[in-house]
Amino acid sequence: MAAAVAQGSVAPNWSTLVSESRLWQRLMAVAEIGGFTDADGNHGVNRPCLTPLDREARRKLIGWAGAMGASVSVDPAGNLFLRLEGEDPSLPPVLTGSHMDSQPAGGRFDGIYGVLAGLEAIEAVAAAGIRPKRAIEVVAWTNEEGGRFAPGCTGSMSFSGFKPIEAFDDILDRDGIRYADALAEQLAAEADLPRRPLGFRPHAYLEAHIEQGPRLEAEGRAIGVVTGIQGSRWLTVTVEGRTDHAGTTPLALRRDAVQDMLRAIAALNTLMRDPADVLRFTVGSIRVAPGTSNTVASRAEFTIDFRHPDPAVLAARGDAIAGVVQAAMTACTVSVHERFHAAPVQFGRAVPDAVEAAAAALGLSALRMPSGAFHDAQFLAPLCPTGMVFIPCRRGVSHHPAEYAEPSACANGARVLAQALVALAQA
Ligand code: GLV
Ligand code: MN
Ligand code: MN
Repeated sequence: MAAAVAQGSVAPNWSTLVSESRLWQRLMAVAEIGGFTDADGNHGVNRPCLTPLDREARRKLIGWAGAMGASVSVDPAGNLFLRLEGEDPSLPPVLTGSHMDSQPAGGRFDGIYGVLAGLEAIEAVAAAGIRPKRAIEVVAWTNEEGGRFAPGCTGSMSFSGFKPIEAFDDILDRDGIRYADALAEQLAAEADLPRRPLGFRPHAYLEAHIEQGPRLEAEGRAIGVVTGIQGSRWLTVTVEGRTDHAGTTPLALRRDAVQDMLRAIAALNTLMRDPADVLRFTVGSIRVAPGTSNTVASRAEFTIDFRHPDPAVLAARGDAIAGVVQAAMTACTVSVHERFHAAPVQFGRAVPDAVEAAAAALGLSALRMPSGAFHDAQFLAPLCPTGMVFIPCRRGVSHHPAEYAEPSACANGARVLAQALVALAQA
């Protein structure tokens, strides 16, 4: 087998060593960490980054990796690496992986699938006796979701140098805990793990993920060959008014932050109107102070998640937000703070072609498609040839406890991943 790989042709059947049952059992085992059942009986996950639950999940992963002979290390951003050594350890490795944190009412697959599929892929490679020229590393990126510390992708942004690691130090979670402190706590709890420096230039990066949209299922395709990721901007709008008595203060005398916030959101809905339904605009979090029924709000803060594949639209409408919310104010003042701005990314040919070739070799139907969700891959793309493998998920549901991918779909994705990783690691 190793000889066949060394000649650049991979024996056709080795990726059947990807075990559907082992991958599924691991997915379900990690889903218990932070797992809950909602009112409809769905098994969701709430596993925020840099928490004891996150660390418990990482320990499970580390145990499995150690048992199959991968070496484990952590970088200063808390990104966790599992390395399957190659023929020439001095060469830059091929990197695969995703994230292990979840949304607060998240599912069992978003993120963790890409990490466990990566582990499954290197287990199959090792079991087949294949030793590619380059090492293959599986990474679990810190804080992709941004659910606890916004924005997301802080681990991969730190790794890639998109922003310096210190840029995230002072982000606060809802309890006022600083990102830097939560990260320091995690690094201290994992002080027994070998440390590695932050960042390097991988030979290639390939991330597996559930699609989080409906296309693959609707079109009956097993594999999505991801061609790029649309751009995203995250902003926080803060409306400042004045507290007053709800029972006595005439409307004309009020500086009601909630009322001006509602005008601002209505105006933004007009700004973001898109008959083609390509643009994505979401107000997903609203916080009001002081937050009692009988007090006019002095402060209303809301988040904006705005996405588009066209950089010109992302720039023009995103840059118009501040003016639009300013014009919507009647009695309050408003400020707009941008927390995240990721331009749309087009992956080059090399990695998508490797994914497509792997799917074809395995007889799996594939579809080239862009990603609507953002992913850590976005921040690897400037460093090295990059791509993603998508697998179908039920009705495209994600960021919801009902998120589901069939065991066979998970295994298909891991087989394609394994094949493509080996092909990339031979180059
Ligand atoms: C990732 O979780 C996203 O919001 O796209
Ligand atoms: Mn994800
Ligand atoms: Mn997500």
